[in-house]
Amino acid sequence: MSLQQNHALVSAQQQIQQDLINTLDAFALPEPLKAAVHHAVMLGGKRVRPALCYATAALQPNQNFAAVRRAAVAIELIHCYSLAHDDLPCMDNDLLRRGQPTCHVAFGEDTALLAGDILQSMAFEVLGSRLFDQGAAVDQGIVLKQMQILATASSKMVCGQVLDLQAEGKQIDQAALENIHRNKTGALISAAIMMAAVTVFKGTDVALPKLREYAQAIGLAFQVQDDILDVIADTEQLGKTAGKDQQVEKSTYPALMGLAQAQAYVQQLHQQAFAALTHFDTGAEQLQSISEFLLHRQS
Ligand code: IPE
Ligand code: IPE
Ligand code: MG
Ligand code: MG
Ligand code: MG
Repeated sequence: MSLQQNHALVSAQQQIQQDLINTLDAFALPEPLKAAVHHAVMLGGKRVRPALCYATAALQPNQNFAAVRRAAVAIELIHCYSLAHDDLPCMDNDLLRRGQPTCHVAFGEDTALLAGDILQSMAFEVLGSRLFDQGAAVDQGIVLKQMQILATASSKMVCGQVLDLQAEGKQIDQAALENIHRNKTGALISAAIMMAAVTVFKGTDVALPKLREYAQAIGLAFQVQDDILDVIADTEQLGKTAGKDQQVEKSTYPALMGLAQAQAYVQQLHQQAFAALTHFDTGAEQLQSISEFLLHRQS
């Protein structure tokens, strides 16, 4: 399914694009940091994490959408920071991201590093701000829960990145690879869903464990699919250099179990995710539609 055909993603992209512009405008940054931050955040990207935030909130319409919008901005800022750092020469050493030169290629390593650093702080500042609230009171309990979920997931992402680098050129088993993928990628995908979930559901609601189950399945599937696309897609399609994982001997699912089995595993994880959504009688259409997109994504 192309991005253009997926209504939930297209409308999420429009919403997040506007909110990200307003957010960056609210920060007075010196050049070249401002330009580097703009480069890292505004130039493309599927915006899957914000879309998952809004889609989760759609399970309970009319609930505190301003707080959901802030969560969507915060998660995308953390994701963009993770990409700017992931591409650095000391990490994956990549030249192309979202069809553009990577942040350090465009602005130098020092500025790219600092752009990632400030994006991380900005994410937490946004969560605590009144941005998008139009004067209404900010629910402090929800803000604290969102911050805790995001901080935990960001820490997991960093731990996953360390393990990913350590595993280059090594034979590791499936349990170790799953641990890397759940941390480096799954954690932020799950956080997108759970930050919205705690905003629109009470802490005791049975929806929360169901959403966690859904989130963990699609979070792992997302990185397995990323590994697969690195093998089967081309550079133009991906907007990042294809075939890079094999070149640097990354530990990936296709390398571990073969391409066909990795593809079957993605399907299996998505079946688990769809099964978790059957808990919801109504309102899960957006989550289902994003899952469909993720299952068939080509970039
Ligand atoms: C790429 O994430 C990095 C991973 C965690 C696999 P995305 O595939 O969501 O990248 P963008 O935001 O669409 O560029
Ligand atoms: C990315 O994993 C994980 C994070 C950025 C945290 P990859 O290194 O596989 O992502 P790409 O392929 O460069 O987008
Ligand atoms: Mg990496
Ligand atoms: Mg990378
Ligand atoms: Mg990859």
